[in-house]
Amino acid sequence: MGKSFAVIGDPIDHSLSPNIHSAAFRELNLDSSYIAYRIPIGELAEGIEGLKKIKITGFNVTIPHKIEMMKYLDKIDESCSLIGAVNTVTNTDGSLKGYNTDMDGFLDPLKKRKIMIPNKKVLLLGAGGAARAIVAGLAKEKAQNITIANRTLENAEKLSEFAKEIGVDSKPIKIEDVKNSAKDYDFIVNATSIGLKNEQSPISLEGINGKTVVYDIVYLPMNTDFIKKAKDEGATIIYGYEMLLGQAIRAFEIWHCIEAPYNAMKKALLGGF
Ligand SMILES: NC(=O)c1ccc[n+]([C@@H]2O[C@H](COP(=O)([O-])OP(=O)(O)OC[C@H]3O[C@@H](n4cnc5c(N)ncnc54)[C@H](OP(=O)(O)O)[C@@H]3O)[C@@H](O)[C@H]2O)c1
Repeated sequence: MGKSFAVIGDPIDHSLSPNIHSAAFRELNLDSSYIAYRIPIGELAEGIEGLKKIKITGFNVTIPHKIEMMKYLDKIDESCSLIGAVNTVTNTDGSLKGYNTDMDGFLDPLKKRKIMIPNKKVLLLGAGGAARAIVAGLAKEKAQNITIANRTLENAEKLSEFAKEIGVDSKPIKIEDVKNSAKDYDFIVNATSIGLKNEQSPISLEGINGKTVVYDIVYLPMNTDFIKKAKDEGATIIYGYEMLLGQAIRAFEIWHCIEAPYNAMKKALLGGF
């Protein structure tokens, strides 16, 4: 019998995950299918029962269920317990194991470009769920320090405490206090949702240069104002779609235990834009 996979969340109809995984199945001639399944907030328990009934092999989890899904897991991978949120699940005879592939997904494009993280001074914009996975990744790769700039200072403070607990020096600031300090950092990441609606870059990027790495995790539009301003200064750019692709590749490899077809998956993702 073929294997079945899904992504659960709400809203879910614009998810690119079905395109990415289906392209991989076609490329490798796998007898598998992948669907988007809308589960509204408050209906997660019933939704999961339904997935178990159809003997789903694995599923991805997205907004708004990434944290609540933790309650329904029988086993928890270290990536998942560290971050406190789950985005990838395997189902073995009704036993669910959770993983978080956002951290490896974030690091993947840095590794591909051979960008070294140790000794880097990082400015991280945002302190939500994605920012937490990024802090875990940067700590794992031994960044020198992370300044966390956020609209709500309290959230930046909490994330900064988490960074210190897992071994990386960190300080919280309000995002408007970044002012003209972008040039003092080696690596600048946007992990806020600013850009999704074509908003202006949340900070000025004046004074950065070709040595500065600028990474926007917002993937739609591909060229956010933040990315455009970084390009104007000649910085090294990493796009949000690369993280999206990285987390999908890691999920594919957890489920199928074979190497993911990177190019076919990338083509499917970019075709969806
Ligand atoms: N490329 C990928 O694979 C990938 C993976 C995950 C997420 N993402 C993207 O990353 C973004 C964040 O996701 P998330 O899951 O971390 O969301 P989240 O937990 O809701 O966090 C949102 C963050 O954005 C900030 N923010 C929201 N609206 C803002 C505004 N108008 N002005 C200033 N700051 C604002 C929030 O600040 P406050 O603390 O002040 O509310 C918070 O820091 C989303 O756009 C998502 O699509 C991309």
